[in-house]
Amino acid sequence: AHLLCVVAARPNLMKMAPILAALDRQAPAVRTTLLHTGQHYDTAMNGQLFADLDLRAPDIALDVGSGNHAQQTAEIMRRFDAVLDAYPPLAPDGVLVVGDVNSTLACALVAAKRTIPVIHVEAGLRSGDRHMPEEINRVLTDQLSSLLLTSEEGARANLLREGIAPERIHFTGNVMIDSLRQQLPRAAAPAATLRAHGHACPPAHGLVTLHRPSNVDDKVQLEALLRALGQLARQLPLLFPIHPRTAAGLRLAGLEALLAQPGIVCLPPLGYLEMLGLMQGARLVLTDSGGIQEESTALGVPCLTLRANTERPVTVSDGTNTLAGTDPAVILALARATLATGGKRGRLPALWDGHAATRIAAAIAAWLAARGGTP
Ligand code: UD1
Repeated sequence: AHLLCVVAARPNLMKMAPILAALDRQAPAVRTTLLHTGQHYDTAMNGQLFADLDLRAPDIALDVGSGNHAQQTAEIMRRFDAVLDAYPPLAPDGVLVVGDVNSTLACALVAAKRTIPVIHVEAGLRSGDRHMPEEINRVLTDQLSSLLLTSEEGARANLLREGIAPERIHFTGNVMIDSLRQQLPRAAAPAATLRAHGHACPPAHGLVTLHRPSNVDDKVQLEALLRALGQLARQLPLLFPIHPRTAAGLRLAGLEALLAQPGIVCLPPLGYLEMLGLMQGARLVLTDSGGIQEESTALGVPCLTLRANTERPVTVSDGTNTLAGTDPAVILALARATLATGGKRGRLPALWDGHAATRIAAAIAAWLAARGGTP
């Protein structure tokens, strides 16, 4: 059997790496082709992570680059379709997509229209907020998928509510945590990371990431958030790796001076091993990322999510995550309370045990076998 596996953006890579390794190990008869759409292309957003995650180089690169949603999605679809046309021997038995980025939906839609079954890893996450493009990508990708592999228990109910047949859904656990467990022993010490980027290492630190359009494309919101971070940074130095979207937002809004507030340490987008080290060593994480909500829960580090909602509710019910919303005064108060008390203690959610990829590979092999292909 042949699986075409799609990656596109930074958060896809830590999901795909353990899955490919598990398929190689458990189902050697399944041939995998790794396709990269090129949605993320900078070395810092992409190249370094392949090395950090022991992920093999893509077999096919679409090099789509950036664009607005319609342009980017359409361009991925056009190029992905052409690849499937141009290489008849590719004729995959399934297209494997992960997460919720534009490429996930674009490739799922092309495959489904060609009646190639879609396998979705991280299915069923829902925030209920259709203002976020990722929510639209999630809902539609799941509707197009034949095999839906979920990362937290509540995802099944979300899928059943949307009419997905129960036999298509398998709770396999959170594969991002497989990468975390595997790579944690190699994590870079914060002092080494800071030195490499020309900074001294503070005795304690918080870690901040921001990249959601609702936080960084809106000048008023971005300015208010940065001023609140500036106040917090007087109490605890804040390490701030800056996503390219955020860098662009800051430039456009003329807010770059706010990065020079005392206690704020600006960094470029970091490698996975650098990021793991900074996260593990942080007293507090402030983020609007999806993956970092999960990773901080797995590491037992308190996390404030700077969003009104989350599609990963288990990080709040079981983990160390608190939904802090987007009001800077509330965020500041919650951050200070966290520092005063040590923050929320969590437990590890079900099946975040580092063995999700083993279950994912087993589910895929069984599904292929049931469809009559030899796995
Ligand atoms: C995308 C995903 C988001 C995910 C995030 C992780 C969608 C809709 N969004 O958001 O879910 O959380 O990745 O990082 O798919 N850029 C660069 N270099 C790059 C990539 C992007 O400079 O390698 C800049 C470009 O100016 C681009 C902007 O960042 O226009 C946004 O990139 P894009 O991939 O559209 O969305 P992200 O904000 O990265």
